[in-house]
Amino acid sequence: MTIRRTAAVLAATVLLPLGAAHAVDLEVTHWWTSGGEAAAVAELAKAFDATGNKWVDGAIAGGGDTARPIMISRITGGDPMAATQFNHGRQAEELIEAGLLQDLTEVAEKEGWKDLVRPSSLLDACTKDGKVYCAPINIHSWQWMWLSNAAFEKAGVPVPKDWYEFEKAVPALEKAGIVPLAVGGQSWQSKGAFDVMAIALAGIDTWKKVYVELDADAARGPEFAKVWAAAAKARDWSKDTKVQDWNQATNMVITGKAAAQIMGDWAQGEFQVAGQVAGKDYTCLPGLGVNEIISTGGDAFYFPKLDDPEKTKAQMQLASVMLSKETQVAFNLKKGSVPVRGDVDLNAANDCMKKGLDILAKGNILPDSTMTMSPDTTNQLQDVIVQFWNTPSMTPEEGQKRFADIIAQAD
Ligand code: GAL
Repeated sequence: MTIRRTAAVLAATVLLPLGAAHAVDLEVTHWWTSGGEAAAVAELAKAFDATGNKWVDGAIAGGGDTARPIMISRITGGDPMAATQFNHGRQAEELIEAGLLQDLTEVAEKEGWKDLVRPSSLLDACTKDGKVYCAPINIHSWQWMWLSNAAFEKAGVPVPKDWYEFEKAVPALEKAGIVPLAVGGQSWQSKGAFDVMAIALAGIDTWKKVYVELDADAARGPEFAKVWAAAAKARDWSKDTKVQDWNQATNMVITGKAAAQIMGDWAQGEFQVAGQVAGKDYTCLPGLGVNEIISTGGDAFYFPKLDDPEKTKAQMQLASVMLSKETQVAFNLKKGSVPVRGDVDLNAANDCMKKGLDILAKGNILPDSTMTMSPDTTNQLQDVIVQFWNTPSMTPEEGQKRFADIIAQAD
């Protein structure tokens, strides 16, 4: 063989990345379209591409309420993606029952997810009839309030340490022309804020009775009436938000146009992309500063069955790489969430994430309501709360009655 031919063969061999012969494109759908979310998705894509396969991004704008029906109809309609995000809990229950999702038990057992994933409730939420159907990839807690230090400085009041001090600061904020509480127009945002207030203001016991035991009497009771009274105030404090997406509301806090936002810790990704520093530019109050709690919400990836052995193999590789130590750290630091593995070093975590990790370590955790209620019940409650939020004439008593009536029929 001539030198030229040998060199050509060598070059071709060297240039061909390992495994390229089996390089497979996988379409992955999710609803992560904000700046922080996109930065986090890029870490997942990078990790998967490094396996020699290719992440084909299928971002769906408009948030989970818009994306999930699209994901479900594609899977049930015979046009499945290779992997898709859902929240921890029961959102994919019917897809599993219909036999449309890959069984991941083999990769879960091979990689010891049972010993790695904490709290174990996250893997339990992926498991049906002893088989594993999703890869949990993060812990997101709704139980946070984000405060703009600059807004309180402008209003001449100290940064509140809890919900009650925030309430006292509202007149000064309004006088300074600052929106006290930013709540975007997407329905899940007022529902989420209400649920956080429920834990903080009705207390954990009453919250468990209503959201876990589905006890309608507790939902009608005086402890829960406190939540509705506070929600009526929060509705007024947020009336000038005038944005739709959650990250636009977060941006109002980042720019000081609004003083506060009750939002899950995915908001951290936005502060990070804006170059803001926890403690210096913004303050985070876990459990609204009333009871330090985190809820184990967050995200898991499910893998629809595909009639293609190469793609199926690549799906298992994607599930595996999502839970690797390196990916867990790189993705979660950008996402503002806590890794599902307890054996990773998060020394790069900021002050707020460290607060969350401490609370998690103390075991002060509650399930997210996506894990305790069916999607149907969640949507019905969300409809009542968003109507209450958008109807100043609707009294707290009326809201509480309608909410409790749904709890009475909940599953
Ligand atoms: C949640 C999801 C988060 C997040 C948020 C806003 O349901 O768990 O990852 O990004 O939606 O899009």
